[in-house]
Amino acid sequence: MALQAKNLEVTYRTAGGRSVPALTDINLEIADREFVTIIGPSGCGKSTLLKCFGGLLSPSRGEVTVNGQPVTEPDPNRAAFVFQDYTLLPWKNVLDNAAVGLHFAGRSKAEGRAKGQEMLELVGLDEFAKQFPRELSGGMQQRVAVARAMAMDPDILLMDEPFGALDEQTRQKLGSEMGRILTETERSVVMVTHSLDEAVFWADRIIVLSARPGRIAKEIEVKAPRPRSLSFIGTDEFALIRAELFRLLEVPSAMAEASQ
Ligand SMILES: Nc1ncnc2c1ncn2[C@@H]1O[C@H](COP(=O)(O)OP(=O)(O)O)[C@@H](O)[C@H]1O
Ligand SMILES: [Mg+2]
Repeated sequence: MALQAKNLEVTYRTAGGRSVPALTDINLEIADREFVTIIGPSGCGKSTLLKCFGGLLSPSRGEVTVNGQPVTEPDPNRAAFVFQDYTLLPWKNVLDNAAVGLHFAGRSKAEGRAKGQEMLELVGLDEFAKQFPRELSGGMQQRVAVARAMAMDPDILLMDEPFGALDEQTRQKLGSEMGRILTETERSVVMVTHSLDEAVFWADRIIVLSARPGRIAKEIEVKAPRPRSLSFIGTDEFALIRAELFRLLEVPSAMAEASQ
């Protein structure tokens, strides 16, 4: 098993001294190579959960472990992040962006370049190594962000609405492409999304969180083998699970029933 969360609870304290319970009673295990998607109402604690997984935030209660080791601080070799807004460095070219994590980890320039180049090949951008982020489309920039995360050889890739800033067509194209890449690299992946389609399309398992404070309302297994082609969207399995997600997220009483 790659990641385990035990009795996780997060309560934020605002500057005014108010406490905001964001997550409660989260118990979760994510297997090696499993692809888990997390979906839930806005503000239910999805990003908070991912931050706990990545060591960017210490839970108020409970514990996260990766391969049995407690997560107490960020470590991109253990869990690397891809955020919605790419977060590339505009003054560095594509190759240097892909290698920036290795640079901060103190690896040699040669090693960074070699690994960065390898990862750019993986995401199909090796020909763009010398370009700058502003010269690339949003979808391409996000692939650089994925290459940068993968260059660290993480046990787990954590993605927070990685395609949220892209238009629908780019999302779909990038989606099926990334599915192939992520399956080939055999990592565990946890991806937060607000798209029902994405949640089903990618996942071995979907975690549905309830409204804040987020708790696990439902876990849904998606059995179709990965990587999936876009034709998966036309199957009964896809339609049935999507309909169930829609009911859970759009019909207020459905989520409450599922949580009990
Ligand atoms: N640093 C913070 N201080 C206080 N409240 C916060 C902080 N970060 C997030 N929250 C609150 O915690 C809840 C969960 O936030 P978040 O994890 O970002 O939700 P999601 O990603 O599901 O939209 C929200 O109500 C948000 O306003
Ligand atoms: Mg969020």
